[in-house]
Amino acid sequence: MKLNRAFLGGTVAAVVAGMPLLAADIQPTQAVVAAPPVFVPAVPQPPKAMPGQLPTSVVVWDRTTIETNVAANTPMVHFVFNFTNVSSGNVTVVSVHPQCGCTTTELPPLPWTVVPGTNGVIRATVNIAGKNGFLIKTMDFATDRGFQLLTFKITILPPVTPTRSEAERAHDIEIARTDRQAVFHGDCVKCHVTPGTGKYNKALYAADCAICHEGEHRATMVPDLHAIKTPTNVEFWRTWTAHGKPNSLMPAFSTAEDGPLNDMQIASIAAYLAEAIPSQVPQTP
Ligand code: HEC
Ligand code: HEC
Repeated sequence: MKLNRAFLGGTVAAVVAGMPLLAADIQPTQAVVAAPPVFVPAVPQPPKAMPGQLPTSVVVWDRTTIETNVAANTPMVHFVFNFTNVSSGNVTVVSVHPQCGCTTTELPPLPWTVVPGTNGVIRATVNIAGKNGFLIKTMDFATDRGFQLLTFKITILPPVTPTRSEAERAHDIEIARTDRQAVFHGDCVKCHVTPGTGKYNKALYAADCAICHEGEHRATMVPDLHAIKTPTNVEFWRTWTAHGKPNSLMPAFSTAEDGPLNDMQIASIAAYLAEAIPSQVPQTP
């Protein structure tokens, strides 16, 4: 009985003692309203990029700047950067971020953990289509132990101007004398047709006409188009381009006459030249 009473008494005391506490807990206080519940994620946070230069005591690169020369009209340049984790701890690559939308990278899924003593390879491809001259592109390499800036320097070499030996030239002229359309066939194509394929306007003129008319070593029978002694206009340029001149070395570019250019391309050259080379003498009415 004694035991029972003591037990009961204890229970009551606990409940009674607990009541005000419980009531106080349920009462919303100012502090509870001001601080909303903090969300504690169940999964561990992904590794965070650490600011500051990635020390060489952690990662060693084969090189962080790559310089390369590429031929004119190269569409893509590929780069490979190699690094080694020389530290005693893991290095986790958090992001690899090229500065330019023209650059794509190839690497394992991120975050990418590189364990001590192992290597990593980053492949990057830069799209340089339509670009000229000297380009510098960079890429941010961020890890949980610091950053590294990776740089590519690309020199796009000027297009190679085709040159011919005196013998080749005499031979080519001989062939063209018997057939002025010969420039659009056989081996002649690589210099006289292919460079203009798919082009229009100025670029087409540069490829198809300038080769003869603006050539440094051009033959004396090739006239200077900037010094024409008759009035010129769009129709003048269109007619010469389409039909050339029979019994001369000036070929007919029109597809109707076995040439390489369609009407749109011919019209684009005529429009370009009428603008770029204004008539040197007044138009005759
Ligand atoms: C390696 C590139 C190349 C090839 C191949 C080539 N040519 Fe030319 N051609 C030129 C260049 C460049 C010129 C401008 C003059 C110069 O620099 O020799 C030219 C000019 C000409 C001229 C104008 C006359 C002159 O010499 O200035 C004719 C006609 C001609 N080529 C015909 C032909 C024929 C026909 C063929 C094929 C049998 C041919 N070419 C193949 C590059 C080439
Ligand atoms: C294979 C070399 C060659 C190519 C390529 C060539 N020409 Fe000619 N062109 C000549 C020669 C040679 C003459 C001189 C014809 C003659 O004997 O009167 C000439 C003459 C001309 C003339 C007449 C100039 C005048 O004094 O009246 C025009 C215009 C002309 N070319 C425009 C063009 C245009 C535009 C292109 C490109 C679509 C072109 N040529 C491509 C060789 C070339």
